Amino acid sequence: MAVMPEGAAHRVLILAPVGRDGPATAELLPKAGLAGSVCRNLEELVAELGMGAATLFVAEEALFARDLGALRDWVCAQPPWSDLPVIVLTSHHQDRRVTAWRHGLVESLGNVAMLERPVHPLTLTSTLKAAVRARQRQYEVKALLEAREQAAAALAREVDEATAELRRQMAERERMQDALRQAQKMEAIGQLTGGVAHDFNNLLMVISGGLDVLERNREGKRARLLIDGMRNAAERGAQLTRQLLAFARRRPLHTEPVDLARLLEGMRELLDRSLGDNIELEMRFEPGLWPVEVDAGELELVVLNLAVNARDAMPGGGKITVKAENVPASDCVRLAVIDTGTGMTPDVQARAVEPFFTTKEVGKGSGLGLAQAYGFARATGGELRIESELGRGTCIELTLPRSLHTPADQRMPEAEHETAHVRSGRHILLVEDDEQVASLVSDMLEQLGHDVLRASSAAAALGVVADGRQIDLVFSDIMMAGEMDGLGLAHELRRRFPDLPVLLTSGYADAARGVIEAGRFQVLAKPYRLEDLQAAMGKMFRADAH
Ligand SMILES: Nc1ncnc2c1ncn2[C@@H]1O[C@H](COP(=O)(O)OP(=O)(O)OP(=O)(O)O)[C@@H](O)[C@H]1O
Ligand SMILES: [Mg+2]
Repeated sequence: MAVMPEGAAHRVLILAPVGRDGPATAELLPKAGLAGSVCRNLEELVAELGMGAATLFVAEEALFARDLGALRDWVCAQPPWSDLPVIVLTSHHQDRRVTAWRHGLVESLGNVAMLERPVHPLTLTSTLKAAVRARQRQYEVKALLEAREQAAAALAREVDEATAELRRQMAERERMQDALRQAQKMEAIGQLTGGVAHDFNNLLMVISGGLDVLERNREGKRARLLIDGMRNAAERGAQLTRQLLAFARRRPLHTEPVDLARLLEGMRELLDRSLGDNIELEMRFEPGLWPVEVDAGELELVVLNLAVNARDAMPGGGKITVKAENVPASDCVRLAVIDTGTGMTPDVQARAVEPFFTTKEVGKGSGLGLAQAYGFARATGGELRIESELGRGTCIELTLPRSLHTPADQRMPEAEHETAHVRSGRHILLVEDDEQVASLVSDMLEQLGHDVLRASSAAAALGVVADGRQIDLVFSDIMMAGEMDGLGLAHELRRRFPDLPVLLTSGYADAARGVIEAGRFQVLAKPYRLEDLQAAMGKMFRADAH
């Protein structure tokens, strides 16, 4: 015997107010495993229906000649899954009027079955059970429909979420592409800058070296003044190329463990002097600040550049805060230079690190300060970030890699110029493919009292040496046209004539870096002055003498 689930939705609603039909049916139901509920009139039936029912069991006389509007409305308003079974117990009346009324009843109540009196109890219970089972199926369909709706809603939610995620990823990719484009642009500018600087250095070499020669040969106050002016210009040019090369990352960085607080405190006097009276300078360092692995000289230049920028942004005075703190998450130290100045417009901020970008008057700014800082940050393996609000101020932030070594107590003093007099009269083979530079350098060497032989390529130099002429030292440019550059020449000479000293020179420090790293050859960086050349020679010959 199937036991029907409990609850209003699973009961048989009985309406048979006249005679024994109602109570008798109600008694039969529990034995058949069904639940029933007896209603006293049509109104009560409709009210009970509202609470749910599996089927209706109605004696026709309870409906006949009554207003069935409310019941009909309920039947019509059923949801699509629902088709309430109605079992009508008919009487013996067979006249036409009653038959027509029964047809109408079937039309208006839909799922109607008629049972004619007298009804055998088994017929009654089996009919009711069949109706309840049919209703049960409808409930199952309903549950299935609801489950499907929920699944569809869940799917729709997932689709929404996935779409949002996709949008986010697309935006992120867009942002990264922008950053990449920017980085590529900077890289291209960097390469260009490096190339310009290289030529520039050769030019400076001609100027400053020429001046040295002139200086030793000319007397007179006017010549003196001219020479000083020209030398200043050349030095300014050399300073510019230093910044350019730092930006282009073509200058080797000599990184070492640096105690940031000590380095910056050491700059205080210099900064105070450059900033002027109406600017307050505050330095704040986290206690236990980690040492950083940087090129100390370059970093000083960066800080000076940032401080000067901050000063320029505060014509009416203000405050500069130099702050450093550890960033454990990325194992680096964050250095920030913060000002209370004019700030930058978004346009200026976007272009600020471009070399030669400046908003300052002609002659006031070259637009290289931030470019140098940016190049430094990149070459050091860190980043440079700008935050700026118009009218409020600017914060330039650098991340510097942490060093795991202890900084030397004191920074090594600058290598002293080698002034020891070198015995002159040496035979120098000068290898240089730039005619102008070659003639200047040979003048310089002669000025120092040496004999100079010239070769304009590595191959020519090898030829000269192989000739068996007396050569005490080969002085060669690194960057040279032809199959072999200066470094190749140096290696070849070292192989064939291990005792012959080789001094290299380059204005293009990328090339020089390889050499320095290999640690095998001495390199003199261009542009150099007569005393630098003399010092380098002195070192070579002294080393030679040992
Ligand atoms: N702290 C700052 N506040 C406001 N604007 C700034 C600041 N720092 C830089 N800028 C803007 O960025 C531009 C570029 O700065 P950058 O240091 O590269 O060049 P510069 O200062 O103009 O010239 P240079 O430093 O080579 O003498 C500046 O001209 C200025 O407009
Ligand atoms: Mg600047």
